[in-house]
Amino acid sequence: MCGIVGYIGKRQAQPILLNSLARLEYRGYDSCGIALASSGVAVYKDAVRVAELAKSLPHLEGTVGIGHTRWATHGAPCQKNAHPHTDCTGKIAVVHNGVITNYQQLTNQLTKEGHKFLSETDTEVIAHLVEKYYSGNLVDAVENAIRDIEGSYAVIVLAEDKPGIVVARKDSPLVLGIGDRENFIASDVPAILDYTNRVMYLEDGDVGVVTPDSVSIRRDGKEVVRETQKILWSSEEAKKGGYEHFMLKEIHEQPRVIRDTISEYVLATEPVLAVPDGRLDSVLLLACGTSYHAALVGKYVFEELLGIPVRAELASEFNYFRNCLTTPLSIAITQSGETADTLKAMKRLKEAGSRVAAITNVVGSTASRIAHQTIYTRAGPEMSVAATKSFIAQLVALYWLALSFSRLDARTALELKMKLRQLPEKVIEVLDNESRIAEHAEFLAKYEDAFYIGRGINYAIAMEGALKLKEIAYIHSEAYAAGELKHGPFALLSKDTPVIAIVADDSTREAVLTNIKEIKARGSPVLAVAAEGDEAITELADFTISVPDTDPVLSPIVNTVVMQLLAYYAARKRKCPVDFPRNLAKCVTVE
Ligand code: F6R
Repeated sequence: MCGIVGYIGKRQAQPILLNSLARLEYRGYDSCGIALASSGVAVYKDAVRVAELAKSLPHLEGTVGIGHTRWATHGAPCQKNAHPHTDCTGKIAVVHNGVITNYQQLTNQLTKEGHKFLSETDTEVIAHLVEKYYSGNLVDAVENAIRDIEGSYAVIVLAEDKPGIVVARKDSPLVLGIGDRENFIASDVPAILDYTNRVMYLEDGDVGVVTPDSVSIRRDGKEVVRETQKILWSSEEAKKGGYEHFMLKEIHEQPRVIRDTISEYVLATEPVLAVPDGRLDSVLLLACGTSYHAALVGKYVFEELLGIPVRAELASEFNYFRNCLTTPLSIAITQSGETADTLKAMKRLKEAGSRVAAITNVVGSTASRIAHQTIYTRAGPEMSVAATKSFIAQLVALYWLALSFSRLDARTALELKMKLRQLPEKVIEVLDNESRIAEHAEFLAKYEDAFYIGRGINYAIAMEGALKLKEIAYIHSEAYAAGELKHGPFALLSKDTPVIAIVADDSTREAVLTNIKEIKARGSPVLAVAAEGDEAITELADFTISVPDTDPVLSPIVNTVVMQLLAYYAARKRKCPVDFPRNLAKCVTVE
C-alpha cells in the first residue's frame, strides 16, 4: 500500500526522503514522488521505482520535504496521479494514504468554485480544500479541510511559506520520528529507522505541526501529548544482510524468532492473557490472509489443549455478518496491526462488549491501540510482502497462550513446553535440507496449477502453502482438506496437476495415505511432506520431503517452513519478483 514520508530539520531533505522512500518499497507501489519547499514548492514524481526517480532528479536545495510511494486505487499508475499533489497555486503540496470516500462530491463542488483538478485521484481534493481554507495559518486550514472529508487518511501538508509541516490522521497509520533538531514523518517505522528509534504515534483525529525542534499535536482544537516510544528494531534488521531476498532472510531468521517470542512470555507466572472473569470458555479468533491461517491453527490448538469451542473468522467476512455473534474474549491476529478489515472487526467486537486482545508484531500499531491487551510477537521488521517469520511468531504466541490456560496434566503440559522450546532446532534441521527442498520447488515451478492437501491442524498449513505459492510464484494453487478432494476437485486431477500432501504423524496419517493412493490412481504427481523415517510415504509418493519429528500439535511449524521454501524457490525459478509480488502490498489499509 502507499507509503508516506516527511522531513524537516538541519540536513538536506532530498537524500533523506529518497532513502526513506526506498525503505518503504517493501510495501508495494507503482509510482513515487517528492516535494521540497525552499523558494517555492518543487514537485518531482512519476510512475517509476524510487531508484529511477532519484536518478532523474536535479540537486534540490531544501531542508523541508515530503515524499510518497503510491499503490493505485483511484486512477491508473501514471505521472499525473502520483503524489505529491498540489493546489492551483502550486504552493501547497500534499501526500496522503487512505481513501477519501466523498472525493467526487467535493471535487464537483470545488470545480464549481473554480478549482482546476489535474489528476484522477481522491487525494487531490485535500490540496484544493487546504487552499480554499488557507489564509496564512496552515494548521487551521488543514483542520477545516479534514472536517469536509469522509474516509481514511494519513496526510502530510507542506506550504512554501510555512516553517512547519502539518500532519493529520484518521484510520491510516502515521508515526513521527524524533531526532536532534530534526524530525521525521512516516507511514511506518522502517522508513525512518536509519535516522532515529524514538517515535510518536498519532491517534485518530490528531492534527500536528512538526518543526525541526518541536512537535505539537491538537485534537478537537485542544493540545494533546503523545508518548514518545523507543523502537527496539535496528535498521540492520530491515535490510537484506547478504541474502538475495528479504523473504529468504526472513525464513532463515525463524529459529531466532521462535526463541525470542517464547522468551517474551516464558517468565510469565500468570496467564499471559487477561480473560473476563478469569474464565476462558470460548474464544473468537479474527484475521485476514496468512494471519487467518494462524487463527485456524489457533482454533485447533485451543480446542485440543483447552477443550473449549473456538471460532476462527475472516475479519473481512465477519464485518458483514448481520449479527455480531461474539464471545466474552476475542483475539485479533495481525502482523502489521494495520489491516483495515481486522481493525474494523476489532472495533465492532469492542462495541458488542467483547474483551479484545491483539496478537501483533508492531509496537504502537493501530491494533495495539484498539485492543484491551496486546500480545507482541518478536519477529522484528518483516519486509517481504509475503508473511513468513511473522506467521511463525503468531503460531508460537498462540501455542503459548493455549498452554498458559491448558487443562492438561502438569507433566503433559511440561513436555509440550519443552517440545515448543526445541522448535528452533527443528526448524534449523528443515533449513539444513534447503537445497533438496529447492530441487523439488524447481520441479513444481514447471506447472501452472497445483493442489495442497492436509488434514486436521495441517489443513491450515496446506492453505498457507497454497497461498504462498500463488502469491509469489504466480502458480494457481488450491488447498483442500485431504478428504474433500474427491468431492469435486478430482475432476481436475491429471499429470499436469501436482499435489503437495502434508502427512502428519498423527491420527490423520492413515486417512491421508489413502487419499494419496486415490490421487495417484488419477495420474497426479504427489510430493509428500512427512515425518522423518516414514517409509510407507516414501514408497507411495513420487517425491518426499522429510521433516523432523515433533508433537503433532507443533508440526505446523516445521511443515510451514517447507511450504515457504517451496514457494520461494519456485518463485525464483520462475524469475518472479519474490519480495514485491505484483498487485500486492504489505499492509492492506483499505477494506
Ligand atoms: C500473505 C500475507 C497476507 C497478510 C494479510 C494480513 O503472505 O502476508 O495475506 O497475512 O494481508 O496482514 P496482517 O497480518 O498484517 O493483518
